[in-house]
Amino acid sequence: MIQKSLEGGVSTLRMDRADKKNALTGDMYTVMAEALETGNTDDAVRCHVICGQPGVFTAGNDIADFLKYAGGGDLSNTPVLRFLRAIARNEKPLVAAVDGLAIGVGTTLLMHCDMVFASPSAIFKTPFVDLGLVPEAGSSVLGPQIMGHARAFELLCLGETFDAERAEQAGLVNWVVEDVDAAATECARAIAAKPPQAMAISRRLLRGDRTALNDTIEEEARIFGERLSSPETIAAFQAFMSKKPKG
Ligand code: COA
Repeated sequence: MIQKSLEGGVSTLRMDRADKKNALTGDMYTVMAEALETGNTDDAVRCHVICGQPGVFTAGNDIADFLKYAGGGDLSNTPVLRFLRAIARNEKPLVAAVDGLAIGVGTTLLMHCDMVFASPSAIFKTPFVDLGLVPEAGSSVLGPQIMGHARAFELLCLGETFDAERAEQAGLVNWVVEDVDAAATECARAIAAKPPQAMAISRRLLRGDRTALNDTIEEEARIFGERLSSPETIAAFQAFMSKKPKG
């Protein structure tokens, strides 16, 4: 459900579960986390690309998987946390190609990318509060940093939908292009062709000290885990699973 390839220094991770709108399962997170982790020490990996299927980047975390955690509440040893830690600590440039839906973590993971290409039909949405949840993946810090508090509030607390143009204006997206896969691959190849040490050091300088961000990811996950057992969240997830209208 994740197609992996490595060509010309470009490691590509393609989410491939279109029948479920690329909703992310534990296995999918594990494969992506491993690729990012091993890429850090593999000289053959100069850049990662993360992409989806035509019309769908990802509908976010698999809601059925989330329901499994609802009783326990501790997410610290889950594949999703491993993935979030891996993407936050990833040392190689990361390029994303977004066509269609980017929901929940599909939007927040983009805040860890260096270059994001979106198609004109891309849709960004994080319905955390509507699901009784809270922002994750460090987005409570990165969101306001990238787009300012007001727009981050709209996206992360109101769950407003951003189209590609708005996401570009907000600084979440670099370029809106028709063929996102081609644009992302071309960009990744250009990155892979540059001197790797200078690239790595430059990127590290731009990103700065990430200790506080990593702490925030753990704190968000602790609260998110608690919220999974909240009546608000259980009702929202059950409504989705049984396709009943919410509210
Ligand atoms: N988790 C699990 N399954 C999901 C899913 C998710 N996050 N998103 C979509 N799916 C499944 C649907 O259950 C459906 O499965 P089925 O065919 O077995 O019934 C299939 O993917 C297609 O989704 P559907 O809802 O029929 O398509 P749609 O085009 O009408 O709507 C979405 C697409 C993405 C808008 C809608 O599925 C949705 O709102 N998903 C939930 C998104 C979400 O809240 N993610 C979590 C954020 S924290």
